[in-house]
Amino acid sequence: MKIAAFVSSSSHHGNTATAVQKFLDGAKDAGAEVEICYLHDYDMKPCRGCRACEKTGKCVIQGDDVPKLHEVIRSADAYVLATPTYYGDISSAFKVFVDRCYPFVDIWKDEETQQMRFGSRNKVRRPGVLIAVSGSHGDMVFDSHMKVGYFCLNDLNSYPWREFCIPFTTWTPVKDMPETVAALYQGGQDLVRHLESGEGEDLAKTGAYFARYRELKY
Ligand SMILES: Cc1cc2nc3c(=O)[nH]c(=O)nc-3n(C[C@H](O)[C@H](O)[C@H](O)COP(=O)(O)O)c2cc1C
Repeated sequence: MKIAAFVSSSSHHGNTATAVQKFLDGAKDAGAEVEICYLHDYDMKPCRGCRACEKTGKCVIQGDDVPKLHEVIRSADAYVLATPTYYGDISSAFKVFVDRCYPFVDIWKDEETQQMRFGSRNKVRRPGVLIAVSGSHGDMVFDSHMKVGYFCLNDLNSYPWREFCIPFTTWTPVKDMPETVAALYQGGQDLVRHLESGEGEDLAKTGAYFARYRELKY
């Protein structure tokens, strides 16, 4: 069983990385293989918006490291997406990563409602975890992080299994938040048990998430 994490802070030792590492420590101690991709270590060109991948499932951009990230996605049984807050929103590296996941999207038209539907080319449904960290903003800032994170997970055929939103790290870094560190470690352990049990998706949770972030009523 492999859990892959994608960290969009430039620091390997900052708050976002620490939160992810604590989560993965729990998963590792419970028996999982883990892989962390620090996105700043990868050459990721921005999406050109040509939409060719909507038809082909392949990206026209060549010569960067995004195919390596896609291989990690294909090899994983669960995903952890992690971003710090920059200017009240997700980091630019997180956005580039999310945009470049567009080749995983499977778009189709619901004949009954005549609406566009966004599924995934990935066949297997897998749990997804979102970790978001802010410096001085409070909880409400994470709404946009959750929205974009959910869109990305949906592209990967992943359901929102759990979220960890950690505000106010300017005053107290994540490593000095014992309750948060314990919750992250426990979350990693719980994810392994969740995967092992085969209990699958909580449809009510996904439905609530879907209603909030996908229906675009705001
Ligand atoms: C360019 C930049 C913009 C930031 N904007 C915000 C912000 O709008 N709100 C906030 O709460 N924190 C903001 N921060 C603080 C970071 O979210 C915070 O320091 C976080 O812990 C950084 O995570 P890291 O240690 O993993 O890099 C910003 C930091 C940077 C570098």
